[in-house]
Amino acid sequence: MLIIPFMTLLVPAHSHAWGIESRIEALVSRMTLEEKLGQMSQGGLPDRVTPALRDLIRRGRLGSVFGYGSPAVRAELQRIATKESRLGIPLIIGNDVIHGWITGFPIPLAQAASWDPKLVQDCSRVAGRESAADGIQWTFSPMMDIARDPRWGRIAEGYGEDPYLAGRMAVATVRGYQGASLAAPDSIAACGKHFVGYGAAEGGRDYNSTWIPETVLRDVYLKPFQATKEAGIASFMSAFNAINGVPASANPLTLRKILRDEWKFDGFVVSDFTAVHELIEHGIASSGAEAARKAIQAGVDMEMISDDYSRNGRALVESGQLDRKLIDDSVRNILRVKFRLGLFDGRPQGLPKTRPAPTSTTLALSNKLAQEGLVLLKNERGALPFPRSIGRIAVIGALANSKEDQLGCWAAADPLTSVTPLEALRARLGSGNVVFASGEPAVVAKPDNGPGGWDRFLRKALTDKSHAGFPAAIETARKADVVLLFLGEKRDFSGEASSRSSLDLPGAQADLVAEIAKLGKPMIVVIMAGRPLTFHESARKMDAILYAWHGGPMAGPAIVDTLFGDRVPSGKLPVTFPRTVGQVPIYYDHLNTGRPPGQTGPAAVDHYRSKYLDIEFTPEYPFGFGLSYTTFHYSKTRVSRSHAPQGGHLTVSAEVTNAGGLAGDEVVQLYTHQRSASIARPVRELKGFQRVHLMPGETRTVSFELSTRDLAFTNSNMRFVTEPGRFEAWISPDSVSGQPGTFEVGR
Ligand code: BGC
Repeated sequence: MLIIPFMTLLVPAHSHAWGIESRIEALVSRMTLEEKLGQMSQGGLPDRVTPALRDLIRRGRLGSVFGYGSPAVRAELQRIATKESRLGIPLIIGNDVIHGWITGFPIPLAQAASWDPKLVQDCSRVAGRESAADGIQWTFSPMMDIARDPRWGRIAEGYGEDPYLAGRMAVATVRGYQGASLAAPDSIAACGKHFVGYGAAEGGRDYNSTWIPETVLRDVYLKPFQATKEAGIASFMSAFNAINGVPASANPLTLRKILRDEWKFDGFVVSDFTAVHELIEHGIASSGAEAARKAIQAGVDMEMISDDYSRNGRALVESGQLDRKLIDDSVRNILRVKFRLGLFDGRPQGLPKTRPAPTSTTLALSNKLAQEGLVLLKNERGALPFPRSIGRIAVIGALANSKEDQLGCWAAADPLTSVTPLEALRARLGSGNVVFASGEPAVVAKPDNGPGGWDRFLRKALTDKSHAGFPAAIETARKADVVLLFLGEKRDFSGEASSRSSLDLPGAQADLVAEIAKLGKPMIVVIMAGRPLTFHESARKMDAILYAWHGGPMAGPAIVDTLFGDRVPSGKLPVTFPRTVGQVPIYYDHLNTGRPPGQTGPAAVDHYRSKYLDIEFTPEYPFGFGLSYTTFHYSKTRVSRSHAPQGGHLTVSAEVTNAGGLAGDEVVQLYTHQRSASIARPVRELKGFQRVHLMPGETRTVSFELSTRDLAFTNSNMRFVTEPGRFEAWISPDSVSGQPGTFEVGR
């Protein structure tokens, strides 16, 4: 459908910014206050065009809808806005395109495990194209909340614990959605969320308060957002949480001072779902009017779902409580993105005759990303890859054959597009060589429809220790030469409002491991989950562990091809895996303390050290860790100069050798540490990474260019500075190993 709105006739289309600005001014000057407040309001979840909705849009009272409706509904709403409203201002139609749309992709945490921004960009390009064709112009993605607490279920939706890695992934995702030009009909606007600090929820409990020193806020939590701002992201979403007592959706420091004044962001900010109205529950507003005032003053341009802006905006302005200019600014920010999207200039509304289906090309991309995100955590006695003739395999665990669960939380893709590991194995080996048991009771409980029924169901599923499915599973395992066990989380165990107090394998899974181990057969374990899990005791009984997250529709073939060695695992952890939930928060870029514990040397036996009595202080698996079927050796790290002046550059390099017998990819990582500065610096900080492919026996010099600017941090005066001093640099396979080189940065 071609939209030819009246504005196109009044003002010629310009790609220049000033062209857009003058068109915005022309339009704003004609808008009534109600129409302005309408632009600042987003209506929700229409699955059909109701008379009430039609009326609101016709009267210019909604600037956006967020719709799970059909493409036809979306096209009709857009038609009403552009053809039947007084000013013909198009809607911006948003949706949660989180990890794929028609073609599903792995959950973002799994994407981060690939450490392959180029591939992530290619995949989000597909998601952008598919959703644009479906009449969507704006996605509420990427989520780039730094998460250092795996109890928080939304860790699944982001890129893990590190600001640099998360920033690279978020930028790649934005570039994929937004394409070369936002105005291209197959581009959609990205929305970076949740601004900001949401992942630091106390106790890992969703929506909970966060307490974040401003230095950490700037250098950790805000970093990926800043990177996407630099990359031209169109919008941000303000978060649910309070930061140091001030809700993120009415926070003048983050939204006004940092985002607008310092970063000069000129797109728009939408609140999270009813987050404006929730300012009342937070306890910083006593009415919807006060909530609207505080949110607008702080810089939330558009209100999602709740309607405090449209209800109270006029009274706030007329009583002098709210400066009209702030409303105009918000409207400008929203219109700017609509112009950039080409919505005023005949951007097609999508609406293909038949809904596009995933293609072999898009599924191949999904498969590749799922494969690159697989992290091999353990592989003893060459358990993997499987030999070509492996005999009979017993596949145990419902997750081996769940088309829904492998898609993960926030999946938009049709589960029928999923190929499960069991299906992929049977296709490869023939059904006769693969025996299967779910390990679960024959009749699996379903949620009841009563209030709280869904939560009761999830709690039971997570805590039920029933062994009812064990006899069949053990019988099945007995018949086979090898046991391939699928453990982990159903998709609803992670994601929004899915916090857990325990990170252990759900239900009776650890008991199942113990029972099957008694058979003495090789036990290969694939863990699918939306978060790091703790399985310290069970791991000892396993010969190999492949961490597969929720890998999307092609998780099955990606896992099976990897188990058989057609592909060599290369994923690395984007988040630290604790030994037990009691170590949380645990992350690699912590400070040293005055009494660091040690694994060797005198610190290892000194009682008065920062450690635990009952468990090692180290994680189960560190950030950046992941094994391969081949072995990579790293030389000592070299630095091109021992002294760099401020503003200077140096090259950090190391030789990486594939010392094993298989070709494979290795994700080579660069970390630095400043030994002494005005405030304590993390023991290591990730500054770069490269995925390199090495043939057996091949040695490659892997180099990184480092500027002294890359070593800057926010000091106690909130200035972003590189302080002179001594530094160490590691080129290493993970965040804990490697032999550092050293250098000095001058004044
Ligand atoms: C979530 C957002 C999401 C929005 C719309 C909220 O509950 O926090 O991430 O984009 O709903 O679905």
